[in-house]
Amino acid sequence: MRIIRAKDYEDMSRKAANIISAQIIMKPECVLGLATGSTPIGAYNCLVDWYQKGDLDFSKITTVNLDEYKGLTRDNEQSYYYFMHEHLFGKVNVDPGRTFLPDGMEPDSEKACADYNKIIAATGGVDLQLLGLGHNGHIGFNEPSEEFKGETHCVDLTQSTIKANQRFFASIEEVPKQAYTMGIKTIMQARKILVVVSGEDKAAIVKEAFFGKITPKVQASVLQLHQDVTIVADEAALSLV
Ligand code: F6R
Repeated sequence: MRIIRAKDYEDMSRKAANIISAQIIMKPECVLGLATGSTPIGAYNCLVDWYQKGDLDFSKITTVNLDEYKGLTRDNEQSYYYFMHEHLFGKVNVDPGRTFLPDGMEPDSEKACADYNKIIAATGGVDLQLLGLGHNGHIGFNEPSEEFKGETHCVDLTQSTIKANQRFFASIEEVPKQAYTMGIKTIMQARKILVVVSGEDKAAIVKEAFFGKITPKVQASVLQLHQDVTIVADEAALSLV
């Protein structure tokens, strides 16, 4: 586990984007595992900027995202599909036919998850998986639990997550109650993993996840067992280690 210390969010974003762009330059037909959330937005902005300057070519890459809400249409601003198009796919020359997320509009959870597992397998495996870190140590939608789940599965969102998401919707009824997420086994099968973390509010979980006991109660702790993990974190997120 390699830890790269960044000064602040901007520095973290640039350093993370450098690692992603190195991957694309070294292997133009690589498979990138991507994340949503607020942390990677700065890195996506850098990648878009470098693409616009002519330094990066996304035309041969394939992407698989970690997760998607169940029941949200692609044009819903809260869907992860929408997020990815807003922040990256719509701004670079990636082939839209090679960008994949779980199908949030597939009501049959078993089918949605099996289909996504097949898609990931057909890519030949993820070369570089980008991850954010939840305050409770979640990665993707793999929440604290008694076990590490294997492949893509359907998750019931906790009441606190549903309540927290309410502000983005007209009413609580519209807030998704479930999501599809890659499992821990799939994440761990990525050849390389890049975790981005920023802010003092993440300092305690950084310490617990990467310097504490390996336990499914802190799902990210499993990353300690992966042979090629790079954590790019700012000073605030590293303030307790
Ligand atoms: C996003 C995802 C989540 C986030 C995590 C951190 O696709 O799966 O695990 O990475 O919730 O979110 P932020 O970056 O908003 O703190």
